[in-house]
Amino acid sequence: MTTTKGLTLWFTGLSGAGKTTLAKRVEKELLMRDLKVELLDGDVIRTNLSKGLGFSKEDRDTNIRRIGFVANLLARNEVVCLAAAISPYAAIRREVRALHGDSFVEVFTECSIETLTERDVKGLYKKALAGEIKGFTGVDDPYEQPENAEITVNTENESIDESTDTILRYLEHRGLIPASSAPDISADEEAKIVDKLKAQNFI
Ligand code: ADX
Repeated sequence: MTTTKGLTLWFTGLSGAGKTTLAKRVEKELLMRDLKVELLDGDVIRTNLSKGLGFSKEDRDTNIRRIGFVANLLARNEVVCLAAAISPYAAIRREVRALHGDSFVEVFTECSIETLTERDVKGLYKKALAGEIKGFTGVDDPYEQPENAEITVNTENESIDESTDTILRYLEHRGLIPASSAPDISADEEAKIVDKLKAQNFI
């Protein structure tokens, strides 16, 4: 197992902007480099750790605090923790950052509301615009854009490959992950990684 100091890569952005897609891609790349990785995805967390929480400001803040708390526990144990939640409020993102000290990297997945409304993968923007869902982020609920995110990827203009590369290069340059893209591992270990990736539907 390759070691790193551990860190949290915090994806923030509107629903459908590509947080989960990118986090999964980065997770795959890091697993291939033999790093310890964990993904905390908002949609998944809301079915267990944050089950029962809604989308008021209070509930969103609680959700983000919980994700941030767990992320920090992982990050301080040499895990690269990938968190992907809208996390619309800057103050709570700052709070989670402060908890981590210097092992926190914010990734803003930027995409215009026009494109998100067009894509509307989950059909939620249509419902929000029709007033069937109230308090939908970016429609009738706030999203406070990060002003000092370490990384901004524009998922409207960039391919998933390009955005993934940007993130990995940044982490390499900061020395947060090993620079090598070719993992120096045994065939056995490689087979285990491939099994894990298959179990997670990556390949
Ligand atoms: S957060 O605001 O607390 O960070 P989180 O990322 O966990 O949100 O969950 C967002 C997901 O919940 C969206 O991708 C969408 O599928 C769903 N959702 C349901 N209602 C809302 C809403 N009112 N606003 C935003 N997302 C919603």
